[in-house]
Amino acid sequence: MSEKEPKTLLEFAAEKPNLKFFFTGGKGGVGKTIVAAGIAHYYAVSKGEKILLASLNPVHSLSSMFGQELWGGGIKKVEGVENLYAVEVDIKETVQRYKDQLSERLRWFLKWADIPVQADDFTAIASTNPAFEESAMFDVMLDLMLKEIENYDKIVFDCAAVANAVRLLGLGKIYDLWLSRMIESREEAMSLRVKLSFRKEKVKEEIKKDPMMADLLEMRTKMHEAKKYLNNPEATAFFFVTIPLALPIAVVKRFIAMVRGFDIPIGGVFVNMVIPEDVVKGKVTEYMENKYKEQLNYLGIIKKDLWPLVRAEVPLFQTEIVGIDMIAKVADAVANWEPQS
Ligand SMILES: Nc1ncnc2c1ncn2[C@@H]1O[C@H](COP(=O)(O)OP(=O)(O)OP(=O)(O)O)[C@@H](O)[C@H]1O
Ligand SMILES: [Mg+2]
Repeated sequence: MSEKEPKTLLEFAAEKPNLKFFFTGGKGGVGKTIVAAGIAHYYAVSKGEKILLASLNPVHSLSSMFGQELWGGGIKKVEGVENLYAVEVDIKETVQRYKDQLSERLRWFLKWADIPVQADDFTAIASTNPAFEESAMFDVMLDLMLKEIENYDKIVFDCAAVANAVRLLGLGKIYDLWLSRMIESREEAMSLRVKLSFRKEKVKEEIKKDPMMADLLEMRTKMHEAKKYLNNPEATAFFFVTIPLALPIAVVKRFIAMVRGFDIPIGGVFVNMVIPEDVVKGKVTEYMENKYKEQLNYLGIIKKDLWPLVRAEVPLFQTEIVGIDMIAKVADAVANWEPQS
């Protein structure tokens, strides 16, 4: 096989026996969730591995796709699919914890600075920032990675539209810099007074007592643990999903560079909703013929620009993907593709 030929998902995965974390990303509505579910179903059913499928999209759709309630109460066993577990991540509690911490800090600061203002107003303003929810999602994702890594053979994360997903994963790099800086300045501020007494142990003791410092250090430890996997191509793969149309292809091309820039290993590309050739055999409407011609043009562009990265083409099915039987068909398509050059 030449370097220019694509590797199927299974060929790609065979080279990485310790691949643990799968992510799917792409433009809105292109099929990120069905591809994530297809990958998870394939490994659970055909390979007998214990799989966790986790939705990180604030607008969850696993429940409606599987036709069963998967929301609330953490990880659930998917009924009717052996070895498969799922979770629609709930960030409400994490956001509330952030808000409580923030108002506690603010209250302390306002009192310390003798400013007669209610901390709650500030907390409300600070926490309406969308980055607040994003970082809560990131936090929960890290927890899932680190807590569940021993409990599952693979974890498949279904992300929100690509910009959010990339920002979400990119937080890893940015957070790390930010945390180091915060920890440094906190250490400086705290130890200034104690430093004057030249007693290092005293500084350490003070640092341990400081709740803000404890939070920062805990987050940094978690971050470093998770980055061992998140930035490791043997452990993590980010898969783009596209459809054979101009905009979603452009989005993938644009984001490949960005994902690399954040040191997230790229797993490849799934091309979804490909109209099968036999649909246009025999007598077809002009509408269908044009649609098919348009697709051929975009498949040509994919071949030219992305071909070695393509892991599978998934056909456009006659109905939407709802229920386990349909998900099993997607699983077969994502895993058993035969590239035609
Ligand atoms: N190959 C396909 N054949 C038929 N229907 C499909 C196919 N792929 C996706 N669909 C349908 O298209 C819709 C969008 O798919 P999906 O929810 O997986 O996209 P998404 O990228 O996760 O969307 P979002 O950005 O909202 O998270 C769903 O209704 C799904 O059933
Ligand atoms: Mg989705």
